[in-house]
This record gives sequence, structure tokens and C-alpha cells, in this order.
Amino acid sequence: MSGLAKRYGDFVALHETHLDIKAGEFVTLLGPSGSGKTTILMSIAGFVAPSSGQILLDGVDVTGLPPERRNFGVVFQGYALFPHLTVYDNVAFPLRARGIRGAAARPKIEAALEMAQLGAFAGRLPRQLSGGQQQRVALARSLVFEPELLLLDEPLSALDRALRKDFQSEFKAIHRQVGTTFIYVTHDQEEALTMSDRIVILDRGRILQCAPPAELYERPATEFVAGFLGKSNFLRGRIGRRADGLAEIAGPALTSWAAVGRQQDLGEGAQAVAALRPEKIRLHRTEPSADACSARGRVSELTYLGATCEVTLTLADGSQLAALMPAGAIALAEGDEIVASWAPDAAILVEPRAEPGR
Ligand SMILES: Nc1ncnc2c1ncn2[C@@H]1O[C@H](COP(=O)(O)OP(=O)(O)O)[C@@H](O)[C@H]1O
Ligand SMILES: [Mg+2]
Repeated sequence: MSGLAKRYGDFVALHETHLDIKAGEFVTLLGPSGSGKTTILMSIAGFVAPSSGQILLDGVDVTGLPPERRNFGVVFQGYALFPHLTVYDNVAFPLRARGIRGAAARPKIEAALEMAQLGAFAGRLPRQLSGGQQQRVALARSLVFEPELLLLDEPLSALDRALRKDFQSEFKAIHRQVGTTFIYVTHDQEEALTMSDRIVILDRGRILQCAPPAELYERPATEFVAGFLGKSNFLRGRIGRRADGLAEIAGPALTSWAAVGRQQDLGEGAQAVAALRPEKIRLHRTEPSADACSARGRVSELTYLGATCEVTLTLADGSQLAALMPAGAIALAEGDEIVASWAPDAAILVEPRAEPGR
């Protein structure tokens, strides 16, 4: 995708976007509702005509081609099955449309049904299937003609949580098996983290960051990314001393070291924000070691989450710090005075959240 943009009148649904996807990759577009995910996917599929920019497939410009000439598999929300056709005939449909019938089609259809674990349901009609099974038919139908690229737009949003988890591992397994490039759209961060080779984070029609899941989580570039992908504390203040890859950030309640990204060039005294994950924080009754960053506070809330416990500390200036402890790691009660500490490189300087507007 090169310079791809989409405007509806004065409204910019997608700002100029560049994105390179490698053959065989599993890439997820992740962002809140309205961030432009479907616009990108529909442009790639050919159902939305971009206002500017190009879509290149192996270097060939396909921007002007109608959807059927692109030969991409699509699993969209509401991209319904044919109600009057059996599962077998639904899956056979894309092959018939390409003139592949009978004995030439049969092994391909059977392989697709097998892959989607639908072998036993070939003779049923869509209304005789559960939601999850219907989604499997849509998947088998989109892969039966062995497309180079499979586009999936929130295919699991209508399913319940347990079923979604099953599908996540299944999508991953199928992706590995067929080797097709997958572009997957979701607003669910857990789905994105568990399945993707790379995640593209979108907000208000712009790509904010594009990286493998662990890198995105560990090194978020912006305040929005840190807050959208997992939970984060934000330390705000002014830049002070600098040391090897670190900068001191001094706020009203605490002073901390924070890791500085390669791109960041912050002078002393500049206003800055650092993201600090709750699980990077340790809680102590006694003073922490001298080389750690720390803050003193009062336990204002304890939330039991099963394996872990979320502790909210209120600091001297009234600001809050969330810490995530293994449950039972330290006996705490609301109102306890306690010290929180973290490693000097645990907090990461991030770009502050942009002002509202597109
Ligand atoms: N046909 C359209 N006309 C006007 N605005 C649209 C149209 N389609 C989408 N939009 C707007 O473009 C923005 C991005 O939409 P979309 O790509 O569907 O977001 P997402 O899939 O991330 O929820 C939204 O604000 C949406 O309202
Ligand atoms: Mg959408």
C-alpha cells in the first residue's frame, strides 16, 4: 500500500498510509471503532475506491481492478452464506465462478471442508448450523480457491468468548498450514496479540505503529498505543538528567528514569510522558534498593483477578499508580502505606496523545 487515502467529502476516513506486507505474513489491523480498519481492508479487497494512492501486489498495481479480478479471499462481517445452498455447495461456489466443477473441484472442496473441520456437515444448510460452524463455512469458502491473500474483517465478533479463543488458535494453525498471507481486522487486543506476526495500530485514520506483538507491547511509541494495547501508567513531567539510553522525568508526585527510544530527541526541561506497565512494579513494606525508581503511596483499591491482584496506589499529589501482583505475593489492605519500585528502564518515554480531531 503506497500513499493510500480515503476521503468522504471533507471527512478523512484514512490519511495517507504506507504499509508493506510480506508474502505469508499474518498481519492484524487493530484499532478502536472508526479508526479506518475496514476502509483499508475494503480498499485492498476492491470494494472501496481509494481517493488516492496505490495497492501493489508483488509490485503490480491492482488499484483499478474490480474485486473479482484480484482473486483475494474475503471473510467479512455479514458477508453471508447462500441460505438455499448446502455447506458443500457454498464452498464449491467460488470454484464454479472460476469454471472449476465436478471431479476437478471435488478434492479442493473436500480439503477445504476438512481444514475447517466441516467434513460431517457437508450436506447441511446454513440455518442448520451454529454461528461458529457458519463462520467455518465462510472460512472454507474463502480459502477453497487457494487465494494469495485472505482478508478477514472482525470474523469472530459475533461469537462468544470461549468460541473466539478456539478460533484464534485455529486461524493460526490454518495460516501455518496454507501459507496464505492473512490480513485480519479486529478491535480486540487479545486476538491481535495471540495471532499476529505483526500488528498495525490505527487511530483516527492513521497508522501509529506497526511491529511484532512483543515489541509493540514492550516498546510502545505513543501514549495511545501503550494505553490501547494492555494497561499502562503514565508518568508526566519534565526531562531532567540523561544517562545511557535513559532520561529522568520529574513530575509532581515522583521522579523516575525512563528508557529513551531511538527517534526521541528530548532536551532538558521538555514536557514528557513515560509509560509504565503495572506488572513492572514491585510493592514493598521497606525501602527498595537504591538503584531502583520508587514512589510512596497509600493502597486505595485492591482488585482480585484470580492469578493476579491489581493494586491501586494513591500518591501524595492524589495521582494514582496501578501495580499488578501475583495474588498472595504480599498481604495488603486498603489504606496501607507502601513503597512501589521499578527498574530504571521499566518506564518508556512515549509520544504524548495527539489532540482530538482528524
Ligand atoms: N461510506 C461512508 N461514508 C462516510 N463515512 C464513512 C463511510 N464509510 C466509513 N466512513 C467513516 O470512516 C471512518 C472509518 O471507518 P471504518 O474504516 O469502517 O472504521 P473501523 O473499521 O476501524 O471501525 C469512520 O468514521 C466511518 O464513519
Ligand atoms: Mg470495521
